[in-house]
Amino acid sequence: MDAVVAVYENWGIGRDGTQPVVLSADRRHFRAITGNGAVIYGRRTLLDFPGGKPLPGRCNAVLTRRTDFSVPGAIVCRSPQAAILATQEYEDCFVIGGESVYRQMLPYCRRVFLTRIYLAPACDAFFPDLDASEAWEITEQSERLEENGISYAFFTYTRKE
Ligand SMILES: NC(=O)c1ccc[n+]([C@@H]2O[C@H](COP(=O)([O-])OP(=O)(O)OC[C@H]3O[C@@H](n4cnc5c(N)ncnc54)[C@H](OP(=O)(O)O)[C@@H]3O)[C@@H](O)[C@H]2O)c1
Repeated sequence: MDAVVAVYENWGIGRDGTQPVVLSADRRHFRAITGNGAVIYGRRTLLDFPGGKPLPGRCNAVLTRRTDFSVPGAIVCRSPQAAILATQEYEDCFVIGGESVYRQMLPYCRRVFLTRIYLAPACDAFFPDLDASEAWEITEQSERLEENGISYAFFTYTRKE
């Protein structure tokens, strides 16, 4: 299992339930990585998807503690373990947010596909600082790219053996 995330310079990932700065190149990158695999995410992240709907073409596992929640096109899971079970037939499975789900499921992830956006907008949701962690190392890194004057780069962090 891997994680996919876009982080700002301060490891922020969101504010008020959404991402304050979104790059279309990052959206394309996200689609290419997640492909036809499975994605696991929290109910609040679902609210931020286009139309509040699950992502097409992928197996969607949505985490919620609510017992009255259902959404067409997604498997509703009441724990990280249930989400892992629900997606286990998929070779490619990605944890895609938000903060609470990343924090709980990062221990199950081998790689993090991370887009670094070189801006520091105010955020209220954060990703763990992988550079400050002994457990992770950068194994791939693109050159710095630019979209509409905003610098960004793609990184792969891999859990150390
Ligand atoms: N930059 C990025 O790549 C990226 C990606 C995704 C999201 N985000 C941002 O992250 C923010 C949202 O993060 P968040 O932490 O507030 O919300 P979240 O992780 O998306 O969803 C939280 C919800 O997930 C459910 N949940 C969490 N842990 C659970 C567990 N152990 N068992 C069952 N259900 C569980 C709960 O739903 P119930 O309340 O229904 O019980 C909880 O309220 C937004 O700002 C979003 O834009 C950024």
